Amino acid sequence: MGVTRTQVGIIGAGPAGLLLAQLLDKAGISSVVLERRDRAYVEGRIRAGVLEQGTVDLLHQAGVGARLDREGLIHKGIYFSVQDRRTQIDLEDLTGGKHVVVYGQTEVTKDLIAARFSAGGDLRFDCEGVAIHDVETDRPRLTYQSGEERHEVQCDFIAGCDGFHGPSREALPASVLNVYERVYPFGWLGILAEAPPVVDELIYSRHPRGFALYSMRSMSVVRHYIQCVPDTDLEDWPDDRIWEELRLRLAPEDQHLLKTGRVFEKSVTPMRSFVAEPMRFGRLFLAGDAAHIVPPTGAKGLNLAAGDVHYLSRALISFYANNDVAGLDGYSQTALARVWKAQRFSWWMTSMLHNFGPSQDFDARVCEAELAYVLSSRAAMTSLAENYVGLPF
Ligand code: APR
Ligand code: PHB
Repeated sequence: MGVTRTQVGIIGAGPAGLLLAQLLDKAGISSVVLERRDRAYVEGRIRAGVLEQGTVDLLHQAGVGARLDREGLIHKGIYFSVQDRRTQIDLEDLTGGKHVVVYGQTEVTKDLIAARFSAGGDLRFDCEGVAIHDVETDRPRLTYQSGEERHEVQCDFIAGCDGFHGPSREALPASVLNVYERVYPFGWLGILAEAPPVVDELIYSRHPRGFALYSMRSMSVVRHYIQCVPDTDLEDWPDDRIWEELRLRLAPEDQHLLKTGRVFEKSVTPMRSFVAEPMRFGRLFLAGDAAHIVPPTGAKGLNLAAGDVHYLSRALISFYANNDVAGLDGYSQTALARVWKAQRFSWWMTSMLHNFGPSQDFDARVCEAELAYVLSSRAAMTSLAENYVGLPF
């Protein structure tokens, strides 16, 4: 059995785990990151791509801001396309100068992994059967298998950054864990393609055929989505059909702006809202998707993970610097307060922009009225913009 001693044991090398490891490293706190998958898999995973300023700032603090600054696209606004009209929501004007940065989560992950290795940090891929032990003592442990060998990581604290399907949340006893969930009756069919963006900013479209989102990764790669049934079979969606559907869900005067190109990734994302409470049990702390999932309509998934990591890293730093446990004791409550606000925003954007089908005609009318209100009232638009650019940590 290989035994390692560290201060913080981190499960999962997604953005949450990797960012936490880097922030702790900058403060001189040791950690070991255990990841179930291999490096190529983690670096190839396609996810969303809108970063709030707070997330950008944290990535800078973690020492991974250089490529983001060079390649990230600053977006000062977004568009809503509703009832044949495209309206700009001027984020900068409405929020006193704030914007978002479009930079793929895949790139964030690659930058964090590169930084971890170049700092000589301990990051282990292909860890099978990671198990959590003794979180109610002050000597918690992680065990796992790598090939033939068993390993143990002895730590002061464990950070469960292992996503929605990881083992951390399950380590909370049923008597302690509360789960809140909403599953939506649709998914998003997403593509990555070699094509120029439709316009300079993202377009969120509410259309009788269903929601569509026109996003981008660069000036030559687009990321587009269409609302689809949750059990969509990709076989039924050849590229031509997707492009045609994307075209039809744009306002008529914008349809000629959609440029097609080689599709090199295609997948269906289910849509759910999910929160697990509390986010701490003994010396185990949950962060990111391990504790909460948002539907992607508000672009909040990665940003929420970053918020958790901000609170958790500060709490750990304060503990090691001053033996101060207030941050650790308050972590769950502080993180959840922000999580629930982002849940509300993501649910609201999702409800307002999607087509819930003919059985929901009353709700559909209310959503149309809500959108008409948002797009005609500076007060309502300001609220949307304030949430979209990210509430403060
Ligand atoms: N052992 C070790 N690692 C695990 C285990 C396990 N048993 N189970 C899962 N993992 C790893 C996953 O392989 C993944 O690399 O934990 C990592 C979790 O990463 P993410 O799913 O990316 O979650 P998180 O870091 O919280 O990032 C949140 O990513 O999922 C998106 O929409 C989400 O944008 C949000 C962001
Ligand atoms: C993306 O570019 O993948 C993206 C952008 C905005 C969203 C969701 C996903 O709301």
